[in-house]
Amino acid sequence: MCAHLESSNKDKITYESLLQGNKDWVAATLSEDPSFFDRLSAGQKPPILWIGCSDSRVPANQITNTNPGDIFVHRNIANVVVHTDMNMLSVLDYAVNVLEVEHVIVCGHYGCGGVAAALTHNQFGIIDNWLRNIKDVYRLHADELDLITDTQEKTNRLVELNVIEGVFNLTKTSIVQNRWANGKKLSLHGWTYSLQTGLISDLGVSSDTNNLNSSVFRIAGIDTSIG
Ligand code: CO
Repeated sequence: MCAHLESSNKDKITYESLLQGNKDWVAATLSEDPSFFDRLSAGQKPPILWIGCSDSRVPANQITNTNPGDIFVHRNIANVVVHTDMNMLSVLDYAVNVLEVEHVIVCGHYGCGGVAAALTHNQFGIIDNWLRNIKDVYRLHADELDLITDTQEKTNRLVELNVIEGVFNLTKTSIVQNRWANGKKLSLHGWTYSLQTGLISDLGVSSDTNNLNSSVFRIAGIDTSIG
């Protein structure tokens, strides 16, 4: 059994065990690839930006069988993409304009606790403000979602719609629109992950060109007349 699967026994996870785990990982990595850290410490050029949920069961590298250096990662509760999030915008800007990633993936997951919470009327605290964004997604798709009576089915459809709106929200950003306007290659994708099977589904909403031509969200050049 792999070391990382053995460590899933939560009784064994302690602050100290993480430090020991790190030493074990370094030793195992070096025995397999002596130049691993020399190579990675020289710089990063990941081709992918991953925007996913903070859920501990959805680690970007492991579920895509990739390694350190392969994916630039941003995670938050319920993989929300909203233009008021300076953290997300900073990650997106750096990934697109400095690292020059060619793909941005928004990956949600079925059974997402954040999405499930947004479907309730409960008050959870500060997080309610964050989950409001998902309630807004519900409002946009209420005609469809109101017809689904099974709670789990409704939650999972909202998981998908939250990803789809997240991808759409990426297309609305000046970061993505300017990249496309400058003729650079950049594709956006929407995925969902199943905790039950471990498999990822492509939601088929990939976008690599500006399709907002007739939309109010289309951004032309910078307009200096405002103000
Ligand atoms: Co989640």
